[in-house]
Amino acid sequence: MRDWAVADAKNRFSELITKALEEGPQRVTRRGRRVVVQAEGEAEITHPAPTGRVEYAGHIAQPAGALRVLLIIGGGIAAYKSLELIRLLKKSGIAVRAILTPAGAHFVTPLSVGALSEDKVYGDLFDLTDEAEMGHIELSRSADLVVVAPATADLMAKAANGIANDLASTALLATDKRVLMAPAMNVRMWAHPATQRNLRRLEADGVTIVGPDEGAMACGEFGPGRMAEPAQIRDAIIRLLSNAAGPLAGAHALVTAGPTVEPIDPVRFLSNRSSGKQGYAIARALAAAGARVTLVSGPVALAAPSSVDAVHVETAHEMLAACQAALPADVFVSVAAVADWRPETSAAEKIKKGQAARVIALTENPDILATLAKPGPKRPRLVIGFAAETEKLEAHARAKIAQKGCDWIVANDVSGDVMGGAENEVVLIRRDGEERWPRMGKDAVGARLATAIADALRARD
Ligand SMILES: Cc1cc2nc3c(=O)[nH]c(=O)nc-3n(C[C@H](O)[C@H](O)[C@H](O)COP(=O)(O)O)c2cc1C
Repeated sequence: MRDWAVADAKNRFSELITKALEEGPQRVTRRGRRVVVQAEGEAEITHPAPTGRVEYAGHIAQPAGALRVLLIIGGGIAAYKSLELIRLLKKSGIAVRAILTPAGAHFVTPLSVGALSEDKVYGDLFDLTDEAEMGHIELSRSADLVVVAPATADLMAKAANGIANDLASTALLATDKRVLMAPAMNVRMWAHPATQRNLRRLEADGVTIVGPDEGAMACGEFGPGRMAEPAQIRDAIIRLLSNAAGPLAGAHALVTAGPTVEPIDPVRFLSNRSSGKQGYAIARALAAAGARVTLVSGPVALAAPSSVDAVHVETAHEMLAACQAALPADVFVSVAAVADWRPETSAAEKIKKGQAARVIALTENPDILATLAKPGPKRPRLVIGFAAETEKLEAHARAKIAQKGCDWIVANDVSGDVMGGAENEVVLIRRDGEERWPRMGKDAVGARLATAIADALRARD
């Protein structure tokens, strides 16, 4: 467990958790209505979660080993987008601690930033309470990555020239971590030779820049200077964090997502309603936890996260070939809704109305999950299948573990609006037990599954 997590826990968690932590470094997580405390190499101890403390749930739900971003919010109109960025990062399982510059506080309030980050918001270099709790040097190093969004012309100028005359610029000079900046400013400020000179200097110093985009600006002008969209910044953060020491650093994860499409002729096909949202969320969460991720995806309407290596396929045969080509992998998560059958023949030319056969003969597709789960030197250490069921969820999922030879099944009831929806309610079934997870966003399912995978791989090492 990281020091900051222990420090946070001591400051904020209930007596129960403080006591647990005083007894030595322990991992504290929340599972539904229970709190699970586990010291390294020891059995889990489960307590009922205390009720009535809103902050408690948020803090405890954060994985103890989560990656952490120090987000510096500068004084620009785009500061409102940083609130969305915090939300997206938290959904990906990344913890956020924020510095809000005095100018930034004119655009967004410390209250909003603190409520979304579920942490104290820092603003003043000479705030003695902060220095007692956490000095500015420690603050700048308590994260795995420092992100400046919006990066004002002023913050860029200070960082490029080593000026440290407030908390944000001092933290930028004192940090030993990588820095990502998302510039946002008026088009003329951006084009000014001074800003361009600062930009080149920052890049030469190893700072990663995301954006700015071109478009209509709040000031009424048009051109480059608009801050990159929060999702784009989130993906850039995940890409950089993948190189940091996340709980899955060094691991290769293979994930399939979306439907497969089985052609009848050049214009017609058999497919299913899978949107790919859950698979994409899992791939993103595994990347956020530090894994190198290969995402093999059927056709979906989603953009592949830039933090993963995406391979786009159409048929089950192509998906199997792409998965086999991606091996070896430490973990395989089979989320794709692979068509069980395909038309026996696929016509080379479009079938004319009059020629259409009334019956399409089908033949079975390869079973990708069972194929990759077969014992052998190339079998991933952990093989996880998804079971989309409309009845007898647990029974069918248990049978699937035996049939396919996989280690876990994530079972979900797709009789409601799960396919294509934003939320999922799943049961994680392992060979030796099962956990029913409450209904939550697909990103949250991804983050929680990534934590479970990291724990399992660590236990198998
Ligand atoms: C309404 C308004 C909008 C501003 N927007 C920006 C902006 O988008 N980018 C920028 O670099 N500066 C902008 N500024 C100027 C900065 O707020 C100013 O340079 C400030 O000193 C930056 O402080 P900081 O870098 O510590 O956050 C804006 C100022 C005002 C009053």
